[in-house]
Amino acid sequence: QDSLYKEKNRPQFHFTTQRGWINDPNGLIYHKGEYHLFYQHNPYEKDWENMHWGHAVSKDLVHWEELADALYPDHLGTMFSGSAVIDYENTAGFNKGKTPAMVVAFTAAGPDRQVQGIAYSLDDGRTFTKYAGNPVIDSKDKWNSNDTRDPKVFWYAPSKHWVMVLNERDGHSIYTSGNLKDWTYESHITGFWECPELFELPVDGDTQTMKWVMYGASGTYMIGSFNGKEFKPETGKFCYTNGCIYAAQTFTNIPATDGRRIQMGWGRVSHPGMPFNGMMMMPTELTLRTTKDGIRLISVPVKETEQLFQSVQKWQSLTSDEANQKLAAFKATDCLRIKTTIKLSHATDAGLSLFGQRILNYDMNFNTVNGHFYSPQDPTSMELSADIYIDRTTIEVFIDGGLYSYSMERHPSDGNKEGLHFWGNRIEVKHLEVFSVKSIW
Ligand code: FRU
Repeated sequence: QDSLYKEKNRPQFHFTTQRGWINDPNGLIYHKGEYHLFYQHNPYEKDWENMHWGHAVSKDLVHWEELADALYPDHLGTMFSGSAVIDYENTAGFNKGKTPAMVVAFTAAGPDRQVQGIAYSLDDGRTFTKYAGNPVIDSKDKWNSNDTRDPKVFWYAPSKHWVMVLNERDGHSIYTSGNLKDWTYESHITGFWECPELFELPVDGDTQTMKWVMYGASGTYMIGSFNGKEFKPETGKFCYTNGCIYAAQTFTNIPATDGRRIQMGWGRVSHPGMPFNGMMMMPTELTLRTTKDGIRLISVPVKETEQLFQSVQKWQSLTSDEANQKLAAFKATDCLRIKTTIKLSHATDAGLSLFGQRILNYDMNFNTVNGHFYSPQDPTSMELSADIYIDRTTIEVFIDGGLYSYSMERHPSDGNKEGLHFWGNRIEVKHLEVFSVKSIW
């Protein structure tokens, strides 16, 4: 297995499959000490086709063991995205003795319709049996749409029923069920697309003040309330992350003693010359925080990722020339993590580049960070901090403690000699810290 992971463009601290194409994470669930990552997988080719559910497990969200594919195409279609729950109360009747079933909800994509099915596992997700009564929802005719997919299921404790959020045509619908097999349509909210999420979080860590977050595959979200049947937005739409991340989902069944809301997203990154394509972005913890602009969703890498990064050196208060001399000592062709705080002066824009690629681009005139509107909490400070993760094929950047984040494909370094390099006029590098990276393989 070791030799499989020595390829030149194998990401070193992100999950990739050994072979084939991957896209969306599916069925993210924590169960008996394991995080399960199912994902859209074409085991045969490096392009999108023949969707199966691939499967990997991890004890720490960082080191993954790839297992056999979990769901195969059937007479209803190929296996599109979905989610997973543990049926503690045996509502579906799949449990065996004291062993509760892991039940997954997925989309079967046939040639002319996308329908929803369920399957269950009694061996901790290793093998699945499809429910003989599939499909459990077939709503193409109602919506006059081929876009009815990506069921996200969770248990709604106050009313003791299951909730499914489903992408239907132009938004997300809510269905409810007592047994995971019979579903009742409840409501619909337009303006979202693919891979729905809906979850509750405390505001500023205060469990007396809970809010619900709904998002779609692009990472745009609304904050509001949910009564088990209908999501009522209380805000406009914001976006917490941008770039090559898509179709992020969050883990269900995380123990209350942990209580985190952990998300993972697909990295839409191509890997030419490799036996695989696509990747998962770093797992992040999502929280709600009151900011000067209102309540916002914050995303930062989970604490488990810290074991991968070793602080090598740090400095305070450098000129950009001094900082660039320090950075020249590091082999920028490799993987690195860089933490920095810059302060602008005179300059209208400044940042950090890697072999000419602008991995941090703060424009103080237009108030943008890498092209997206962003203004720091103190708009007069002229300061910006960034936590930058550079892997073989991607770069992920978390601004000001996760108030905004973005990701990008890493360009090959061919031809450009510049390495890591602060650019911009008369900036002060208030803080700079370089970390080396351990491989997960
Ligand atoms: C999002 C998506 C989903 C669908 C899956 C198919 O990337 O288009 O809506 O279920 O990918 O692979």
